[in-house]
Amino acid sequence: MTRLMPEQVQQIPMNLQNYDVELMQKTGTSMLGIAKHALSIKYNVTTILSKSTSAIIPITTGEGIIPGFTEAVLSILIHIGMDAYITKKTDVRGFAEALSGQADVIFAADDYSFNAINLRTRYVSDNSVCTGKAYVAALDLAVKGIKGKTVLVIGYGPVGQAATIELLDRRANVVLYDIDKVKMGYAKREFKDRIHIVHSIKEGMWYANLIVDATPVPDIISEDMITEDTFVVAPGIPLGLTSKAVKKITSEHLIHDSLELGVATMALDVLFSQDF
Ligand SMILES: NC(=O)c1ccc[n+]([C@@H]2O[C@H](COP(=O)([O-])OP(=O)(O)OC[C@H]3O[C@@H](n4cnc5c(N)ncnc54)[C@H](O)[C@@H]3O)[C@@H](O)[C@H]2O)c1
Repeated sequence: MTRLMPEQVQQIPMNLQNYDVELMQKTGTSMLGIAKHALSIKYNVTTILSKSTSAIIPITTGEGIIPGFTEAVLSILIHIGMDAYITKKTDVRGFAEALSGQADVIFAADDYSFNAINLRTRYVSDNSVCTGKAYVAALDLAVKGIKGKTVLVIGYGPVGQAATIELLDRRANVVLYDIDKVKMGYAKREFKDRIHIVHSIKEGMWYANLIVDATPVPDIISEDMITEDTFVVAPGIPLGLTSKAVKKITSEHLIHDSLELGVATMALDVLFSQDF
């Protein structure tokens, strides 16, 4: 997990309305709609969301609090219609505050993990898994169905793994590239001939114009790799496209944010997963 920079989260609260408009143009639905699609939820979630309260607990361990992080999570939860607050106290005292208060769900992140926990069902939702699912769902909506289409996944960390599983569940053909050959070996053993492994991004893009960028590195997708059909969904931070590639790609064909889709999906996952 790459540590987020304050400037990657501090703008989130004031941009949520605009981001929803952007997502609507690109996918035909909002952040909440994408989160529902990620979890295959067809029913109305607004009543349960509005009756549920999340406590977001600031965690100071490790490298410490990222300025603006808890506020960004808070704003996303409120934006999708959930009641939420940031605990006054941090760490263990924050957990005690949430448990002795009205919270139904807690959200907390440290240097290694970002989870939401349902205090009634004990279900634990994981940000990496939800982010992988959310970006695949966004791609599915944007290209009007990925079933039978070929998608290149770049990066096989937790987010790339979740995206790979989701793509296979949605019957897409998966082409996978990770710079780490050991990880490619794990993927091959797990999925056998259900995925096709390539040895470079360029080779992967020979098979696919739909891309999931799940790496923590910049400038791995250059201008010459972009055609008018290229579609990139990029949970990876920072964005893997060079600035020239960003200029060249059709603006509707790029979906990238630092938290929004993953957190919205965690909120539904933690509340509704027990109903599946
Ligand atoms: N947008 C969001 O809401 C959100 C949520 C969670 C994680 N993230 C970000 O998504 C990215 C992936 O998360 P993760 O936890 O899976 O990270 P990770 O670091 O565990 O895994 C990244 C993978 O990318 C591979 N990689 C690195 N450089 C590469 C290259 N040049 N070409 C191909 N593969 C390369 C690594 O070997 C590794 O397997 C990170 O940047 C993380 O911060 C974003």
